[in-house]
Amino acid sequence: MEAGALTRRGLLVGIGAAGGAGAMYAAMGALGLAPDAQDKKFTPPRSGDFTLRGKGAAKVVILGAGVAGLTAAYELGKAGYDCTLLEAGPRVGGRNLTLRGGDRLTELNGPAQDVKFGEGVYFNAGPGRIAPWMVALDYCRELGIPIETFVNNNAQAYVHTNGRTMRARTARADMYGYVAELLAKATNLGALDRRLTRDDRDRLLEFLRRFGDLGPRLDYEGSERRGFTKFPALDGGLPIPAPGSLHQVLAAGTGRAITNDFGYDQATPMFQPVGGMDAIVTRLVEAVGKDRIKTGAKVTQITNLADGVEITWTGGHLGSGSGGQPASGSGGQSQSGSEGRSAPGGQPAPGSGGRIKADYCIATLPPHLLAKIPHNLGAEVTAALRTPVPVAAGKIGLEYGTRWWELEDKIYGGVTETDLDITHIWYPSHDYHAQRGLVVGYYNTDENAELYGALTPEDRRRRALTQGKKIHGDRYRNDVLSSVSIAWERQEHIQGGWVRWPAFDSSFTLLQRPSGRVYFAGDWLTHLIAWQAGAMESARGAVTQLHQRVVRSP
Ligand code: PHE
Repeated sequence: MEAGALTRRGLLVGIGAAGGAGAMYAAMGALGLAPDAQDKKFTPPRSGDFTLRGKGAAKVVILGAGVAGLTAAYELGKAGYDCTLLEAGPRVGGRNLTLRGGDRLTELNGPAQDVKFGEGVYFNAGPGRIAPWMVALDYCRELGIPIETFVNNNAQAYVHTNGRTMRARTARADMYGYVAELLAKATNLGALDRRLTRDDRDRLLEFLRRFGDLGPRLDYEGSERRGFTKFPALDGGLPIPAPGSLHQVLAAGTGRAITNDFGYDQATPMFQPVGGMDAIVTRLVEAVGKDRIKTGAKVTQITNLADGVEITWTGGHLGSGSGGQPASGSGGQSQSGSEGRSAPGGQPAPGSGGRIKADYCIATLPPHLLAKIPHNLGAEVTAALRTPVPVAAGKIGLEYGTRWWELEDKIYGGVTETDLDITHIWYPSHDYHAQRGLVVGYYNTDENAELYGALTPEDRRRRALTQGKKIHGDRYRNDVLSSVSIAWERQEHIQGGWVRWPAFDSSFTLLQRPSGRVYFAGDWLTHLIAWQAGAMESARGAVTQLHQRVVRSP
């Protein structure tokens, strides 16, 4: 090394010695070494991060005990932060909801539904599938949650479009076949010669023959890929009759249905926790500590202060903590009590509200609900929170006493795509060959979800069965044991399946940064909207920013 030259390490040690860890951390950021500069890599806060400066972890109040809130509390907890979660609803988990027999589902302006499923039957009413690259799967690993394959693409499932039902494999074979034929013939006729070298042309033709299973003259004449009415065994089986003409295949309108899982976030295989998606919530709550979570606590005010943040709420049962101090109490430093008031008999009494002062806040409520809570964060924040538009989403779980889709249709997991208002039918990817099973009879969004959501549970079921019968026949309607449906826009403290940003604009980026001492988190603040991974990545982002600030603060 040249005399006088400084290594980065030497420089950092010098800055650390002179200015302390905060200065060193800032310098690391400038050198591109701090976590926020390390693309994607998340370093959980550790208590050791404070030791250089002899500081303690701060107190953080987290609004919302959904996946984002729980993840934030879990990560902050690794460094000993003192977290309190305020959850407006009676249960935690947010949209991560698995319903089982004995549960009761309530909704805004609608009757409650009692879930009557038999032993072992469950319904993931919210998230149901995880792509392999998503951080949600990393949390399953870290939290010791067993996972199993979620069958997202099944050639044996159906496509139902323009009033006709066929196996997905048949729809694909025909569309791929004719597309390949057209392109191959155009290529062969020299129509693409300006784009293709001679070698390109040969390679393309070679591929198209395979892609479409074309005949020797590049015709699509149907193919074994379409499937059989009797599969080959001792004899050659009975192939499905030859395909219709190109015109007929195009008129079948299968295009959307056979490309539905092409997206990078949907490409098979996907995964699900064994026994229900809410294992993620259960394990996070265990790790965070139940007593840190106050359910039934509806936030009424968010006040950013020079040295902290103050939150008031009404209600506040405890799974868990306490009702806190009465909101009517005088000002000054108040804490959420940990004693809790108990009704006679040891049952927790509904609290009458409370007030908490913390060093920081992470607000994870849906933006459209957060926007309605009085705060002193400014009009720009309110406007930004109002920008994303809630999207309706709904599902119905249909429980059957026999797994006829396995027995008769030979469908093991996967999705039937339709152009009906039910959009999708999901078959279970678990407990194959069990006695009972649960089919998701619709999973729809936007207008279709609004249509179903506006019906009574009874009418939703009737409508879903009428639609599904078009694909599966009378058995679909007659053999249902029980059902439960959810309209996410009617869940009181959520009011939407997810949100859509008109554009990922300055409102979006504004809320990715803290407003004073209030941070925001949720899938709605990521490009992974409608994924738990979005909620988790967002929570990690807020935790990283908050922790860096605490470590750097004088
Ligand atoms: N994550 C949800 C799902 O798997 C919603 C979604 C669908 C999000 C497709 C993005 C793409 O169905």
